[in-house]
Amino acid sequence: MTILAIDQGTTSSRAIIFDAALRPIASAQKEFTQHFPHPGWVEHEPADLWETVFEVAGRAIAQGGRPFAIGITNQRETTLIWDRETGEPIHRAIVWQDRRTADICASLRDQGLAGMVSSRTGLLLDPYFSGTKVKWILDHVEGAREKARAGKLAFGTVDTWLIWKLTEGRVHATDATNAARTMLYDIGKGAWDADICAALDIPMAILPEVRDSAGDYGVTRLFGGEIPISGVAGDQQAATVGQACFTPGMMKSTYGTGCFALLNTGAERVTSHHRMLTTIAYQIGGKPTYALEGSIFIAGAVVQWLRDGLKIIKTASETATLAEEAEVAQGVLLVPAFTGLGAPYWRPETRGAVFGLTRNTGPAEMARAALESVGYQTRDLLEAMALDWAGAKGGVLRVDGGMTASGFAMQYLADIIGAPVDRPVVTETTALGAAYLAGLARDLCPEPAVFAKQWALNHRFSPQMDEVTRNAKYARWKRAVEAVMMV
Ligand code: G3P
Repeated sequence: MTILAIDQGTTSSRAIIFDAALRPIASAQKEFTQHFPHPGWVEHEPADLWETVFEVAGRAIAQGGRPFAIGITNQRETTLIWDRETGEPIHRAIVWQDRRTADICASLRDQGLAGMVSSRTGLLLDPYFSGTKVKWILDHVEGAREKARAGKLAFGTVDTWLIWKLTEGRVHATDATNAARTMLYDIGKGAWDADICAALDIPMAILPEVRDSAGDYGVTRLFGGEIPISGVAGDQQAATVGQACFTPGMMKSTYGTGCFALLNTGAERVTSHHRMLTTIAYQIGGKPTYALEGSIFIAGAVVQWLRDGLKIIKTASETATLAEEAEVAQGVLLVPAFTGLGAPYWRPETRGAVFGLTRNTGPAEMARAALESVGYQTRDLLEAMALDWAGAKGGVLRVDGGMTASGFAMQYLADIIGAPVDRPVVTETTALGAAYLAGLARDLCPEPAVFAKQWALNHRFSPQMDEVTRNAKYARWKRAVEAVMMV
């Protein structure tokens, strides 16, 4: 018996089939077009999201056979609204990176709502989350709010859109981890929040039903027979599950386009006083497990910039070799605030900078500075989490995502955070987490404690830098961040 994991990400859709022992046996992937209609705006065509998922799922099934269950994991916060009757989206999907709703956030702040929003949702007032994007679409598409009031429209994050398409409109649902990213969901009560919806003028009739991450999302009949959809989680939460971070104090960091660190805080909903987010790591058996999350917008994207912007490398894998040739004494330092700064600064308007340029600075120094910036940004998150919650101190960081292939970047990360960095054998942790949740709901996979024992280490990067150097380098980073925030 096999499980199909669908991973709908920011730049591509992937499908992986896992066998009953959760080993990947077949996979397919397809990229799709990014739309940037204005500076700071990022959109996806809803049909592209669905069609690429349908295609890769079909290709994976053709190789690996028809699965017993489907798990879905997805780029989070990205917002879609469609007509319930026709199934037609009323606007392109507004992507999590999109900053167009900064003024809506400012107006909520002016109304004195920041405290209420963050105490209920665990989030901060930032354009990153879905709520203000929903309001923007309802404000800008003619007649949309009236139709929403009349119950004719459906809102969803990408999971909800895919469930709707897979079940041919029979199921309008999301899971608690995705709901927790909308800024419309009270993560303590486990319910949509009427006051926040009212503040944003969002009719609650458009909201999906919220279910467990391992649960029942109906069946799809699109691949022959009936295949149950039984696991759903946002990609960072699915990675937390795939990394088996089930015990309070365990932490993972995923290095994709951005970097997202999640620290399991168990049944305790820790409120951050250092601008971290509180979120739901997973919800099983009706019980949410909470996490502190730090989100950085630019991690792997800095390597894309070296390749596509600066054109100093041809492939991402060249970065580490180049970085090792750098003249370290130059101390070139990059603050990659290309789309503003995420946690713990939350400054959408800030832009990046390079410090320490000399006449000898070349591609090698830039490559090194790019990889080092990922280490510094991660330390920012871990420092804030340690201040928020005593259980966070001194732990091991489990890492995954494309950038973890770079031994250089991971060693620098361990050096700068001063803690071990563990890279697992299976780095497809996001898809693995979704497959596991789907298998758990269908009694194909063992309980979390047993699954956790199957986690296997590929390599531990232990800190080698002395503490004085580590702290001096980090202090310089902090000064650089202060400087970019002042410009
Ligand atoms: O919060 C955004 C995150 O879910 C996107 O992840 O891997 O698609 O860049 P990714």
